[in-house]
Amino acid sequence: MKITPFSGDEEPLLGTTPSQPKLRTRPRDLCRRSLVLIAVLMMALLVFSLAKMFLSEALIDLYGSLNPFPAPLQDARFRFTSLSDHDSCDSIPKTHRFDCFPDFSSGITKDQCESRNCCFVPVPGQHVGIGVPWCFFPPGAVHYEAETPKVGPQGISSRLAIRARSGFPDDVVHPLFTAAYENDGRLRLRINDSEHARFEVPLNLPPPSTTSPRLLYTVELSRKPFGFVVKRKATGTVLLNATVAPLVFANQLLQLSWEMPTHLLYGLGEHRAPLLLNTTWSRRTMWAGDQGPKENTNLYGSQPFYLALEDDGSAHGVFLLNSNAMDVVLQPAPAITWRPIGGIFDFYVFLGPRPEDVIQQFLAVVGMPLMPPYWGLGFHLCRWGYDSSNATLSVIQAMRDAQMPQDVQWNDIDYMHNREDFSYNKKNFNSLPDVIEDLHNHGQKYIVIVDPAISSSQTPGSYKPFDEGAKRGVFIRDSSGNKILIGKVWPGLTAFPDFSTSVAQEWWFECLRDFHRQVAFDGLWIDMNEPSNFVDGSVNGCPNNTLENPPYTPAIQGEKLNYKTVCTSARHAHSSHYNLHNLYGLFEANATYRALERLLNKRPFVISRSTFPGQGRYSGHWTGDNWSHWWDLRMSIPAILNFNIFGIPLVGADICGFMDDTTEELCVRWMQLGVFYPFSRNHNDIHKKSQEPVAFSTFSQRAIRMALDMRYILLPFLYTLFNRAHLQGTTVARPLFFEFPNDKMTHGIDQQFLWGSSLLITPVLEQGATKVTGYFPSGTWYDLFTGFALVSRGENVSLEAPLDKINVHIRANSIVPVQGTALTTVAGRQTALGIRVALSASGMASGELYWDDGDGVDTQEKGLYWMFSFIAGQNTIHSVIEHQNSGIQIPRLGFAIIMGVEARPSTVTLNGASIPFSYSHDGILMLPKVNAPMSKAFTIAWKS
Ligand code: GLC
Repeated sequence: MKITPFSGDEEPLLGTTPSQPKLRTRPRDLCRRSLVLIAVLMMALLVFSLAKMFLSEALIDLYGSLNPFPAPLQDARFRFTSLSDHDSCDSIPKTHRFDCFPDFSSGITKDQCESRNCCFVPVPGQHVGIGVPWCFFPPGAVHYEAETPKVGPQGISSRLAIRARSGFPDDVVHPLFTAAYENDGRLRLRINDSEHARFEVPLNLPPPSTTSPRLLYTVELSRKPFGFVVKRKATGTVLLNATVAPLVFANQLLQLSWEMPTHLLYGLGEHRAPLLLNTTWSRRTMWAGDQGPKENTNLYGSQPFYLALEDDGSAHGVFLLNSNAMDVVLQPAPAITWRPIGGIFDFYVFLGPRPEDVIQQFLAVVGMPLMPPYWGLGFHLCRWGYDSSNATLSVIQAMRDAQMPQDVQWNDIDYMHNREDFSYNKKNFNSLPDVIEDLHNHGQKYIVIVDPAISSSQTPGSYKPFDEGAKRGVFIRDSSGNKILIGKVWPGLTAFPDFSTSVAQEWWFECLRDFHRQVAFDGLWIDMNEPSNFVDGSVNGCPNNTLENPPYTPAIQGEKLNYKTVCTSARHAHSSHYNLHNLYGLFEANATYRALERLLNKRPFVISRSTFPGQGRYSGHWTGDNWSHWWDLRMSIPAILNFNIFGIPLVGADICGFMDDTTEELCVRWMQLGVFYPFSRNHNDIHKKSQEPVAFSTFSQRAIRMALDMRYILLPFLYTLFNRAHLQGTTVARPLFFEFPNDKMTHGIDQQFLWGSSLLITPVLEQGATKVTGYFPSGTWYDLFTGFALVSRGENVSLEAPLDKINVHIRANSIVPVQGTALTTVAGRQTALGIRVALSASGMASGELYWDDGDGVDTQEKGLYWMFSFIAGQNTIHSVIEHQNSGIQIPRLGFAIIMGVEARPSTVTLNGASIPFSYSHDGILMLPKVNAPMSKAFTIAWKS
């Protein structure tokens, strides 16, 4: 998905915003017109009374004369919602009650409920809002009826006609439903307004490709009431039954519910929760907010995507392309209700059938993740509170002295002059350019934070970023469109760039370019981009209109849309903030990625706090302001797995925790887990106890160094996984159930995870523990340290886990490329390559290695790389060069470790010539001196 290139003077690309309140002028001379007015009013009253009589009869008639569903829907699974049961409201099981009055979270009365022709059944003791609704739709309620559909090989479309009002202002009278068969595994379901343009997410989407008779799905339309059903063709499983509640399509409230075939549901972010979602009445609110990871509330990004696992292990996914604020409710039917407050319904359904296929199909729509530079996969060190360049240098030096691997040093807002972007404090950070030079001389990199909000209160002519931005009109304007909206962030009064225009992108590039001349950063950290604001709305408040106070406000922190952000009626070039808020991080990431690529002519490295689907193309993500608590350590795993599901695999949590003081034990355990975050950064809050690896005892430093060494050894493998993700949209950190969907034990696992399909990580997440229990799916798993085989029949295994050990196992059947330990990736990339071969019971294994210059732009696309497959079987291992480029240097293969070799070999050969080896009774064959150029295919063989 490309962000559509905007230029500042363009019309909104797609659609318009919900209508703005219009200014009314008073008639100047009421007296002269009063007689006419009275006559008109009397006429209107008469017409209204007649219409009301007619309408209420029409409603009664509608509810009393419903047609049966078309044949396919009379499946026993849907008996609760089939029309035969509509005699009484009580007959609808609690699990299948769909909220008719979501705009009233408490205190709803019978009269209010019945004014919408809904059932009123209070459930005492039930927490209203996210529990069984007290006011719910009666069976077969009709809001819309589908007119005669157009049916063709590419899909179905049908105009809908309103048959009853929803109770929300401005129902859309004639929505248009389309089901487009985009390809065999991808279906797009849209409900738009056929008569008026509405806001749509301004992103370029791939066109439908050819479909074939092998479509993996069928779509059936229910005409009255309007609804639809999507089935998996191969199994007949009903994936979405959207006939269980009527569609609501009002200007500022859209609601659609469907029943699902499974409780095994994942995704819907950004939230803190276990990996497996709770379908017993839970709510996920999506509205980007400056809120550190915390249960049951909206966090920094909006990710309206879920993956569902069906009974037979097949998976499907659903993405709602909508950037408005929304609530998503899960209930035990199991069913889901989508409730955005603007835009349109634009769903993509992905048919898998493997979980990895679902992610790939999703990312084929929103965009494949970026390929990070090699150094970006090294270890990053940061904190808020390195208050001078000397303090920064001392920690870098201490890390070097302690022989701790570190690739990147970061500075937080401390480096800035008065916390203003594109400036640095020439007093405390006077030697910053020298520190950066020193880093570069040691093969290390430097990253700084940049916040989007630009200081707006400088003397004119003294702060170019604001002066130029104001001159070029790049800032978000207030709802009148006349003035720049002013909020407050770190530097005090600030303006917020609207990154969606090409003018703003150019201005952003120039600001970064000018700043780079002083501070030679290598990558950027874009924080506070929800956008965060320390005052609600603006320093002048916000107007009282329907964009600030819509008829329904999702359950967001602060209970109002402009809480800790800008006014929602503020104006961007193309639409209101109401529509574009959730895209702010995506637009900033896009502008920053493109600016960096232009500036450095290198692969950009950007880490963003706020995200939206498709952002994996431009940035990674860190999970924000967590706590230095054991619970946060544990909950970081589902967060990291979720972002892999959302297509942003470059993700990590603040290692050792941000808020509160860490403890030595917690920090050691967190480093051990954190070296397996795809993005690995230790970051700390201001005024908190130091938590750099060098801040601890010799014992702990040794344990941390061992963990970091492990990461550095495995970097060729991690880099290869990122290449796959970049090319095909696969995950890097992967939930176990992705690889073992038919093993029920894996479905809820979120305290262990995989790297790709081969490496199983089982961290200690409890204080004081020296053992850890992990689940090992059926098969053989080799300890990465010892090479010992663990043969599992699919069982929980208790593992020794003293404070200096993290358990990592290689799955039989895999070959993992590795390198030597080193203090930086520059040094590591010079060491010999190796392979760790984990043989299956039948002596087989395979793997691959991607290698390029490490930071060139589009190396894969330009063919500037090497790609190898490794295949083991029948006592041989050979490499296959899948792609070569002799211009790219690649180290030699220096060693191989082969696990699962049944008997001591008599000889081992490389390309026919004997090489030294050692063998241990545990079946481990070590080849320490292979010395083979990778540029020639090699064969290693052993004879018993
Ligand atoms: C925000 C960020 C945090 C950073 C701080 C100061 O709270 O989430 O990581 O350290 O701002 O810039």
